Amino acid sequence: MNSSDLLAPINIETCRIPNRLFAAPMAGISDLPFRSILKSFGAGLTFSEMISAEAFVRGHQKTRGILRRAKGETPFAVQIFGGNPVAMAETARRLEAEGLCDLIDINAGCPVKKVMRGGAGAALLGDRERFFEIVKRVVRAVSLPVTVKLRACRTPGDLDGLEVIPVLFDLGARGVFLHARCVSWNFTHPPEWAWIERAACLGRPLIGNGGIFAPEDAVAMISSTGCDGVMIARGYLGNPWIFRQVCQLVETGKWTPVSLGERFETMRRHLEMSLDVFGERQGILRMRKHLSWYVKGLAGNAGFRRRMNSLTRSGEVFSEIDRYFESLKEREH
Ligand SMILES: Cc1cc2nc3c(=O)[nH]c(=O)nc-3n(C[C@H](O)[C@H](O)[C@H](O)COP(=O)(O)O)c2cc1C
Repeated sequence: MNSSDLLAPINIETCRIPNRLFAAPMAGISDLPFRSILKSFGAGLTFSEMISAEAFVRGHQKTRGILRRAKGETPFAVQIFGGNPVAMAETARRLEAEGLCDLIDINAGCPVKKVMRGGAGAALLGDRERFFEIVKRVVRAVSLPVTVKLRACRTPGDLDGLEVIPVLFDLGARGVFLHARCVSWNFTHPPEWAWIERAACLGRPLIGNGGIFAPEDAVAMISSTGCDGVMIARGYLGNPWIFRQVCQLVETGKWTPVSLGERFETMRRHLEMSLDVFGERQGILRMRKHLSWYVKGLAGNAGFRRRMNSLTRSGEVFSEIDRYFESLKEREH
């Protein structure tokens, strides 16, 4: 693959994705308002936060809330996790029956203890029988495309995640998202992109993930590994423009940093949506981390963050954003 392929559409079976830039599922982060922002800057496919199949089948209201898609958010993927093959298949069936998404992704990479204790997420790499049963049943339950997101291995020596890739495709998975880290590594460990290259020889489409923080990283990943697309995760935090910048880089060989004006306009737009969707209290609480990511690296951001964390009224939050923006503009002159 070369870098211009990043802008070419890709079909994951019936799910037509306008480019090969994927916005990763992130629990507590990839909610409706933020996905809407990511989409507006060019993310080809957005993912819900992961939802628990057991909770969904029980009719848990919060889980239902996670599934609302943003206006115009097509295509949209829902990621499910769980250790019970029956609940996973039933969840997939209901997602399709209710028309809630265009693609269903199985989480086989989450290293969080609570998730793994239930036999879900990255625990599936250590229990292949259960893993394959889940994939088989979910695939059988729906006509929507089913994909799997997993890590390359549990520990660096074994590469067990790579080993299962051909089986996942044989069982009917239509794509794999490979996070190029071991389950035993934390997020600060550099990813091993060579594993993406190896995985791309084992089954396709294979989307690479891990360590994309700048537009150049997206180009480097697709050209050096031959993967079919790239998935951006922490690189989009406070930086949703990264999708547009990758497109600029591919098209023109360079990209423009976001202006101060657009940065603050995006913060306000994001806050407005968050208030609309979650109400004043939750909307503000959810925005605190985003606002602090948006101002990372800007002069005087520590004071802004501190003040933000004490405000509980939307009017005050907007005013504080405006005040900080004005103070930065003055510094520019
Ligand atoms: C706060 C946080 C939440 C995450 N939530 C999910 C999730 O719900 N499902 C999932 O498959 N991966 C999740 N991930 C993993 C990311 O999707 C991605 O695989 C990982 O961050 C590596 O990519 P990066 O190096 O580009 O950040 C999460 C990661 C973080 C840091």
